[in-house]
Amino acid sequence: MKIVKTIEEVRRQTAEWRKQGLTVGLVPTMGYLHEGHASLIDRSVKENDRTVVSDFVNPMQFGPHEDLQSYPRDIEHDAALVQEHGADLIFHPEPEEMYNEGFSSFVDMTVLTNELCGLSRPVHFRGVCTVVTKLFNIVQPDNAYFGKKDAQQLAVIKHMAEDLNMNLNIIGCPIIRESDGLAKSSRNTYLTPEERKAALVLSKSIFLGEQMVKEGETDCSEIIAAMQKMIADEPLARIDYVKIVDCKTMQQIPVLNRPALCAIAVYIGKTRLIDNFFTEDIDKEAE
Ligand code: PAF
Repeated sequence: MKIVKTIEEVRRQTAEWRKQGLTVGLVPTMGYLHEGHASLIDRSVKENDRTVVSDFVNPMQFGPHEDLQSYPRDIEHDAALVQEHGADLIFHPEPEEMYNEGFSSFVDMTVLTNELCGLSRPVHFRGVCTVVTKLFNIVQPDNAYFGKKDAQQLAVIKHMAEDLNMNLNIIGCPIIRESDGLAKSSRNTYLTPEERKAALVLSKSIFLGEQMVKEGETDCSEIIAAMQKMIADEPLARIDYVKIVDCKTMQQIPVLNRPALCAIAVYIGKTRLIDNFFTEDIDKEAE
């Protein structure tokens, strides 16, 4: 397993693989890898001859007051995990390698980014779409793997790939949770022990919403109100949003009459965490 820092080296290696007729999977990450990332790597290793993991904290997707500086980084730990899970190469560039002086081209999207995290993080998806497009151009993978925890990101990237005729498959993989229910996230490391306990309110409210849907509730405002109440009862939690949207367009809907995504963002202390559930098995649509 190689760690490669330049675009040229990645290109040389992936071109060589393609010449040999091998398929290439890409797992884009910002590093500080956990079991959620490991599940994406496992899937890519299973479905492709070679797997590239990108490990890059992308400055462009952070707003001015967000956690770019404190975002956790540990390339040695990441390299061990990637090796253990059988991927072939880590692409770990410096910011200057990805964004040279005078960089001024961006990939942006309307509509799908006007809701949920796009509202609270106005520059986020422009940064994600731009870096993911660059990674696709650099690696030229056959398949790229993204977690469903970032459900809006997955929908945005699928839509971008379709709109811009990108020649690859975008594959969504299930949320991986801690044994007590908290969705795995690199940002969980910010939580104090007390906050870690309080953070369980995210998954608990997700499970509550899911249960209401299973029991036949179709009025989105009822589901949202019950989830909001549960979160509001946790003193360390502050709601950013609890919303139900069409799972393709990401626009809010009042009634569950089509496949939908229920997504939440909640601050626990200063840490903003997200979680979600789909009201139907959307694997056919999400993969
Ligand atoms: O999901 C992430 O970790 C990032 O948004 C991604 C897709 C690697 C782009 O920087």
